[in-house]
Amino acid sequence: MKYFKGSIFHTPIHGELIFIEEALIEVDEKGNIQSVFQPDDQHYQEKLEIAKTDVDFVELSKGQYFLPGFVDLHVHAPQWPQAGVALDEPLNHWLDECTFPLEAKYEDVDFAKRVYQDLVDHLLSRGTTTVLYFATAHLEASLALAKICGETGQRALVGKVVMDHPEMTPTYYRDQSAERALADTEQFIHEVQQMAPAYQQGIYPVITPRFVPSCTDESLAGLGELARQYDVHVQSHCSEGQWAHDHVIERFGKRDTEVLREFGLLTEKSVMAHCNFIDEHDGDIFIETGTAVAHCPISNAYFANGVLPVKHLKEQGVEMGLGTDISGGFSPSLWDNIKQAVMSSRMLEDGVDVTLPPSVRGVEASRISVIEAFSLATQGGGEALSLPIGVFAPGYTFDAQVLDMTAQANQITGYGVFNQPEAQLQKLLYLATPENIKQVWVQGQLVHHKS
Ligand code: GUN
Ligand code: FE
Repeated sequence: MKYFKGSIFHTPIHGELIFIEEALIEVDEKGNIQSVFQPDDQHYQEKLEIAKTDVDFVELSKGQYFLPGFVDLHVHAPQWPQAGVALDEPLNHWLDECTFPLEAKYEDVDFAKRVYQDLVDHLLSRGTTTVLYFATAHLEASLALAKICGETGQRALVGKVVMDHPEMTPTYYRDQSAERALADTEQFIHEVQQMAPAYQQGIYPVITPRFVPSCTDESLAGLGELARQYDVHVQSHCSEGQWAHDHVIERFGKRDTEVLREFGLLTEKSVMAHCNFIDEHDGDIFIETGTAVAHCPISNAYFANGVLPVKHLKEQGVEMGLGTDISGGFSPSLWDNIKQAVMSSRMLEDGVDVTLPPSVRGVEASRISVIEAFSLATQGGGEALSLPIGVFAPGYTFDAQVLDMTAQANQITGYGVFNQPEAQLQKLLYLATPENIKQVWVQGQLVHHKS
């Protein structure tokens, strides 16, 4: 057993904050939480005596906190070199002129390894312990990403991207045929599943049609069949912007969600990025199929010209977590996306109440709190992926970030005026910087630390 003692913040239920001062967390050899003791529990003292004799005992001091590791539901790993670039372009230009030429370079596996290692290290240093990644259309470089995550200790779900539509993808960067795309995807699934047992934290293959416009009917149907056959995760973009949303309706006479469902791509293990242009009917399709939404608020502010109605979709019952969407979103940090999720929700709610569709402005009761946004980055992400992550409770993995606020103690307590747990977490979420993240743990293993 390993023992971790310190104050914890988490939300086992969306938006409902639990704070335990001086919690004692018991973690087994596999990195799973066995028990969480509170100081007034019967066995707390007795367990604490045992913990103190343990060489692996980790004890936080006052002003340090455990937060669950963050779950990033949408990262394009190959786009890391492009973070912050060309954000003024419309999405389809940005893809054609910047993104596809960059992604094509990952044919060079050495280049891929260099970028991917840097990105994984960087995300861990920002407290992100689980990531759902898009790689590129290249089989070998996509496998390299899965391996790097495995060896660096990050929990990762990785997809080799499928993009085979001859009119919607450039000749220099596409799957050569639907058949080839499906064969490569199947091989990718096998190889990732073969390497997975070596990594305790979990490495998973993901079926990844880039988005409906970039895929032929054949590849979409074949990927749906692979999802059924292998029961692995599925990811794509859905109704991100007006252009993508309309394109699918023109091609199929149906909405993006309906098309994805018909091809068998919406399952309990599916995560669809963005979804800004979905309505209640689409929300029902997600609920019925168990599909989750990856909300990417920074990216949406630049590319989608819309705001996801987070509050309404959550109330409807749609599963949801947060994504950075590197590099549609410039920031590799879910800390930044938590703040943007709150601000975007406020901008959706405020303003003139004109009769415009949802995701414009003036939509009543749209705001979310920073605690709700924190839930999306933790418990919500775990629920979206159907994995036991994002909460400090028995049966969950021990994935944590240690925030050290000792040098800013007065700021965090508002000079003693704001001592309530909720105020302290609000302050942490708004005021902490990457410097404050002192340690990051995944599956009970230390994967990042600052001296
Ligand atoms: N839609 C299809 N591909 C992409 C991508 O790489 N980024 C974003 N934001 N949207 C997409
Ligand atoms: Fe994306």
